[in-house]
Amino acid sequence: MYHLPNSLKDKLQTRIENNSLRTLHVNNVGLDFYSNDYLGLAQSKSVAEKAKMCLENSHDVNGSTGSRLISGTHSLHIEVESELARFHKAESGLLFNSGYDANVGLFSSVLQKNDVLLFDELIHASVRDGIRLSAANSYKFKHNDIYDLETKILRFKQNARQVYISIETVYSMDGDTAPLQDIVNLCEKHGVYLIVDEAHSGGVFGENGSGLVCALGLETKIFARVHTFGKALGCHGAVVLGSEDLRNYLINFSRAFIYTTAIPLHAVATIRAAYESLQEKELLQNLHFRISYFNKVVQKLGLSEKFIKSNSAIHCCMLPGNDRVKNLAQKIQNQGVLVKPILSPTVANGQERLRICLHAFNTKQEIDLLLKIISENI
Ligand SMILES: Cc1ncc(COP(=O)(O)O)c(C=O)c1O
Repeated sequence: MYHLPNSLKDKLQTRIENNSLRTLHVNNVGLDFYSNDYLGLAQSKSVAEKAKMCLENSHDVNGSTGSRLISGTHSLHIEVESELARFHKAESGLLFNSGYDANVGLFSSVLQKNDVLLFDELIHASVRDGIRLSAANSYKFKHNDIYDLETKILRFKQNARQVYISIETVYSMDGDTAPLQDIVNLCEKHGVYLIVDEAHSGGVFGENGSGLVCALGLETKIFARVHTFGKALGCHGAVVLGSEDLRNYLINFSRAFIYTTAIPLHAVATIRAAYESLQEKELLQNLHFRISYFNKVVQKLGLSEKFIKSNSAIHCCMLPGNDRVKNLAQKIQNQGVLVKPILSPTVANGQERLRICLHAFNTKQEIDLLLKIISENI
């Protein structure tokens, strides 16, 4: 067996020394405050049953047999893409194997030489990787800072063929929300194209969880939207929503779409079934009830200063230093509550935090317990 080259061993050693080594854990048993399964749909028997029924007349139930452009496109792919587009009020949709693939495939193919992309400094790694595969120039702007964004638009517009902006509607590591209407106004004012990642607002905001873009009626103002299904939808995959032309463009030029085996039918059937569950109004209501209860208890315990303000399912308690945040997470885990510390380098040095995910199924007592442990140990 080959040994790891010393240069790679050194990198692992540095992680160990910084107390930031990533390791995998299975069988975590306890109260779930860490998964992205905000609505509990990953555990839904009815979603599984509906998906099974949907697959009854399908042949290739185990794998999709090829890439979408060869043997991998089934009628279910096309039907679900249309359903998703209709639900999110877009002209068209194109499925990808994951949100990571969707962002890599979208940004790497759309951005051309002499284009400029301005991205929020907290944008997800999958967008950054897509940018790195493109020939465009890219610059970050300060998180949610409209003034900095407009300054950069004005600075880079003259020499750019096309300017694009990339934001998330709910930021994955902070849980806060983008000033979407203001950003759309800026885009209109300066003729800039906006690309929005709705990974953490799909299934949470908007009518039946259609996302923040729909909640604000901005569907026609956005060049492309990415909705992922591994979060509130509790399943797997992603869709890029936009114009029919954008869909055709991605089918022709998005390498992350073209050069991979198509998303399997059981995943597509599960996506359809999970979207059907979004029609159950009480599911989203339960989640929002938990979110407002959590915020009330945070305030009551005098913890507001420690938390990033959030109305989403993601809530972060800031606790700088990998050691400190790891110790607190361990204390919480010892009491049967599952939360994860977010360490540097996943977040910037000094921005380490506990990331708490709220779910429609968390009880008030569970929320009380978690916040009591935090307030006693912080
Ligand atoms: C904002 C954002 N975009 C994209 C992704 C990637 O989605 P997926 O997990 O489906 O690959 C994530 C998940 O980590 C995310 O938080």
